[in-house]
Amino acid sequence: MGPSNWLKETLILVNKSIAREILSTYKPSDGIAIDIGCGSGWMGIELARLSGFNIILLDLNREEVSKAYLNAHSVGVSDKIFPIVADAHHLPFKDEVAILIVSRGSIFFWDKPAKALRDSYRVLNKNGIAFIGGGFGKTLPRDIRKKIYEEVKRTIRQNNAMLKKWRKGRSFKVFNGWIHEAGLSNYRIIKNSFDIWVEIRKKEGN
Ligand SMILES: C[S@@+](CC[C@H](N)C(=O)[O-])C[C@H]1O[C@@H](n2cnc3c(N)ncnc32)[C@H](O)[C@@H]1O
Repeated sequence: MGPSNWLKETLILVNKSIAREILSTYKPSDGIAIDIGCGSGWMGIELARLSGFNIILLDLNREEVSKAYLNAHSVGVSDKIFPIVADAHHLPFKDEVAILIVSRGSIFFWDKPAKALRDSYRVLNKNGIAFIGGGFGKTLPRDIRKKIYEEVKRTIRQNNAMLKKWRKGRSFKVFNGWIHEAGLSNYRIIKNSFDIWVEIRKKEGN
């Protein structure tokens, strides 16, 4: 059994509200943004809708990528969207092309998170910011976020291997370990009851 319709709809809202939080917090300028592990694409699509970015929607799963593109088309932003089937560990881009990298709910399932974080860092440009992690953002009321968390847990529980990875990555110690292993120095971890994110900035010479 997959996610309930309620969860699917709510996660669209979550992705959209995190996209808006990112825009209002970082006020990034136009350029290329990448949504890694985009799933059905709603975070990248909302960024495309509200900004001048060209957005690369990237996922390992071809079906998700085409769903994401159709979703972009349905809200009229497909001209700003570039769908790509690729692996977070081997991003098919030159160094320093992206001003913004976002990734929600995907890092927990990467085989080698430190290696993939390093590759995101490589692709980030000098003034760029990467925002990678998982959770439900700050905007929705806490009781709703708690309900989403419980529902996500209930859904993931149906797949034991996934549940293990998801739980593991949400531990501060493990998450922080990935960042250390990646050798990043200019970063900030944001953790609260439901969210764990790393904000990475490029530092010249790193
Ligand atoms: C839980 S979903 C999150 C989807 C979307 N970001 C969201 O928040 O709704 C995780 C996504 O990461 C993708 N993924 C997992 N490992 C990946 C990898 N190594 N490279 C790229 N995408 C990956 C999966 O295919 C899946 O679509």
